[in-house]
Amino acid sequence: MIRRTRTTKTLAKRMDLQYFARPYPFRRWRFLLSVAAPALALVWLVGHYATGRPQKVYSSGPLSASHAVFSSQCNLCHLQQAGFREEVQDKACLGCHDAPLHTAKQSFTPACGSCHVEHKGSLQLARTADNLCTQCHSNLKNKLRQGTTEFVADIGGFDRHHPEFAPLRRANGDPGQVKLNHHAHLQANLAGPHGPVQMQCTDCHRPANRPGTAAWPYAGGPEVKAVAATSSAPAAPGDRGWRDRAYMLPIKYVDQCAGCHTKDLQFDKRLPDAVPHDKPEVVHNFLLTKYRAYIAAHPGALREPQPLMYPIPARNPREPQPVPRNQEEWITYQVQGAERLLWNKGCKLCHTVQAAGAALPQIAKSNIPARWLPNAHFDHDAHRMMECDSCHTRARNSRETADVLIPGIASCRQCHREGGPRVEAAEGRCFECHDYHKWVNEQPVKGKYDIRQLRAAHSGFPSLLAGEALASK
Ligand code: HEC
Ligand code: HEC
Ligand code: HEC
Ligand code: HEC
Ligand code: HEC
Ligand code: HEC
Ligand code: HEC
Ligand code: HEC
Ligand code: HEC
Ligand code: HEC
Repeated sequence: MIRRTRTTKTLAKRMDLQYFARPYPFRRWRFLLSVAAPALALVWLVGHYATGRPQKVYSSGPLSASHAVFSSQCNLCHLQQAGFREEVQDKACLGCHDAPLHTAKQSFTPACGSCHVEHKGSLQLARTADNLCTQCHSNLKNKLRQGTTEFVADIGGFDRHHPEFAPLRRANGDPGQVKLNHHAHLQANLAGPHGPVQMQCTDCHRPANRPGTAAWPYAGGPEVKAVAATSSAPAAPGDRGWRDRAYMLPIKYVDQCAGCHTKDLQFDKRLPDAVPHDKPEVVHNFLLTKYRAYIAAHPGALREPQPLMYPIPARNPREPQPVPRNQEEWITYQVQGAERLLWNKGCKLCHTVQAAGAALPQIAKSNIPARWLPNAHFDHDAHRMMECDSCHTRARNSRETADVLIPGIASCRQCHREGGPRVEAAEGRCFECHDYHKWVNEQPVKGKYDIRQLRAAHSGFPSLLAGEALASK
């Protein structure tokens, strides 16, 4: 290819040296317009004032859908101050809704308007851009007012620069103390209350408030009495407005186990009752009451051996069974026998029973977490189209309570991507899974406006001058 030779000399020849001397239509129009446009604008402005909608003029764009109703009252957000500036201050926003601070540890407080971008049309304001989070989270160590943080300090986005979820990073992730072998319970032909059954995940785990759900299939009958105070943490999430079907209901012995495991709470063939599923002291008192009533009704039982529900090795097999001399001793021995069976076998099937010398033993706190990922949202209901196993891949083969069965970040990344719908994925920006505001600290807002102040046409920017100051920003 031949290169064009372009020198300053050849270029200079192209210039029209007479350009500014001759009248050109283009320049004439430009001049006319530069005079006419401001004049027209002035007429328009005055006209707008006359029609009573002065504020629209300076608007940099329509308000978001939720705020559009306030479009005639710019000063609800653009607070009037001494002088001419009409700035948006956080206190204007806070007059209509409380938005509690993220954390006391943050080194600065970004303005509301920096994250909730107004005048960009009917966007949803709460769908904030990731860079407003990563301005701190990509370098958190330098964004602390004081002290340190336990949280991963360099997060840049969900796709690659986001840590694995905390319980999966820890060596011993499951704090739960109730024994459960998932694998054993999900076998075909498990012995159910009325013959063999195939258990499903939903026989034990169901989201709260799901409409149209039948009773728990393996709940205990009315004779089964449960621990008075529930032992699992409450299911209610701590953050505001999170969907009430998001998380699974807590496991309860009465609802999910008793149907098959009542016999583990039975102790004596003469007494068909199961002990209440409760603290050892309650069990102890129950046994005392039962045996007192029994011996009063059957005095001849004094010389009979104790027919326990199922065998349990004596502490020392060579030790002879003590022979009761009276009814009080009989009651004591019966209770001791029943308790040995329960603590060492019945309760121990599911619990860590902590022996306490001669005193009654302690049942370890069950500690089944209601929330595994307290620093993020999750919503089972939004994922109801999926099989449980597709996320909880390890559940079916788990044999120990200590196994962590919640899914890791890799499974979420198959659908949630930063680009969201634009890249044919589910939303992957921070707000999808996290709150910024600590809604547990939310305070009620006391309404202070009347309808006219919110809707009337005339009480906007007080002066054209103030408006100009703003418009020229
Ligand atoms: C719901 C609150 C709210 C209302 C009502 C509101 N604004 Fe704003 N406005 C904002 C926020 C937030 C900003 C950006 C904050 C900043 O930059 O300081 C802003 C910025 C502006 C700017 C600056 C231009 C820019 O892009 O930086 C203008 C001009 C403006 N608003 C005009 C208006 C006018 C005119 C009205 C009435 C029609 C109005 N605003 C009503 C919240 C509001
Ligand atoms: C005059 C009262 C008023 C003022 C002032 C006001 N808001 Fe609102 N805001 C509302 C109402 C009403 C709603 C809709 C009802 C709701 O969601 O509680 C709303 C909704 C919102 C939402 C949720 C809706 C969405 O699109 O995501 C955000 C975020 C929000 N406002 C932020 C702000 C910010 C930031 C400011 C200050 C720049 C502000 N608001 C000023 C009344 C106000
Ligand atoms: C001004 C700085 C700053 C900004 C902006 C910020 N954060 Fe944070 N964030 C922090 C600090 C500091 C901590 C650590 C708090 C601690 O150690 O107790 C934190 C903690 C967190 C945590 C873990 C603790 C918790 O509350 O769950 C999450 C999740 C989080 N931020 C998400 C976000 C998201 C999402 C955004 C954007 C909407 C955001 N942050 C914006 C400073 C910030
Ligand atoms: C698809 C959901 C999702 C998205 C999107 C997401 N996160 Fe997370 N994030 C989580 C989950 C789940 C956890 C684990 C929470 C826990 O362990 O309690 C987490 C944990 C965190 C933590 C705590 C880290 C730690 O030390 O364990 C921070 C901070 C955080 N995310 C910030 C962000 C920021 C900033 C963004 C946006 C750039 C973001 N996340 C996007 C789901 C998400
Ligand atoms: C449909 C009946 C059924 C239900 C409901 C049931 N189980 Fe079981 N469970 C069994 C059977 C049958 C066995 C004996 C299985 C075996 O050893 O192979 C068993 C054994 C156990 C064992 C000891 C065996 C082992 O392999 O670890 C524990 C612990 C246990 N179940 C706890 C529970 C808990 C806790 C619940 C309630 C959340 C529960 N089970 C609900 C039928 C059931
Ligand atoms: C088939 C399994 C099973 C058996 C057998 C069983 N429990 Fe439980 N227990 C549970 C489950 C599941 C929980 C946690 C949910 C609840 O409160 O029902 C629990 C919770 C408890 C709690 C509350 C612990 C806490 O967190 O404070 C006590 C106390 C308790 N059991 C006592 C007993 C006693 C005493 C026995 C024997 C008489 C017994 N349990 C037998 C399954 C069992
Ligand atoms: C999209 C993936 C996904 C699917 C599908 C899914 N889960 Fe989960 N599950 C999770 C995540 C993530 C958590 C951790 C949430 C938390 O506690 O913060 C969780 C937690 C749980 C928990 C612990 C208690 C709780 O609510 O946090 C149980 C039990 C559970 N899932 C059972 C099920 C069952 C049963 C199904 C099928 C009906 C199912 N899950 C479907 C992702 C999933
Ligand atoms: C017999 C009742 C039962 C059945 C059936 C059952 N679970 Fe569980 N599940 C429990 C109990 C009890 C716990 C609490 C103890 C533990 O952490 O293992 C639990 C805990 C969980 C957790 C909490 C996270 C973790 O690490 O422990 C998940 C997730 C879970 N189950 C998923 C499933 C899935 C998925 C299925 C079906 C494939 C299923 N479960 C079937 C009783 C059951
Ligand atoms: C098969 C694809 C798929 C997988 C895998 C998946 N999600 Fe989702 N997720 C969705 C869809 C679809 C929605 C609903 C649409 C939306 O909000 O973008 C959703 C919504 C959500 C929401 C918002 C819920 C709401 O009610 O607004 C959260 C939080 C979430 N997912 C977290 C997770 C986490 C954490 C994981 C990994 C454990 C995960 N998702 C895995 C597809 C998926
Ligand atoms: C660092 C970015 C950031 C800042 C600064 C910020 N917000 Fe938010 N805001 C969010 C995010 C993200 C959400 C959605 C998640 C949540 O609820 O925390 C939100 C939610 C809200 C909501 C609830 C929306 C709904 O869905 O109901 C209101 C109201 C709100 N913010 C008002 C404010 C006000 C007022 C300020 C100033 C005091 C402010 N925000 C400062 C990021 C921010």
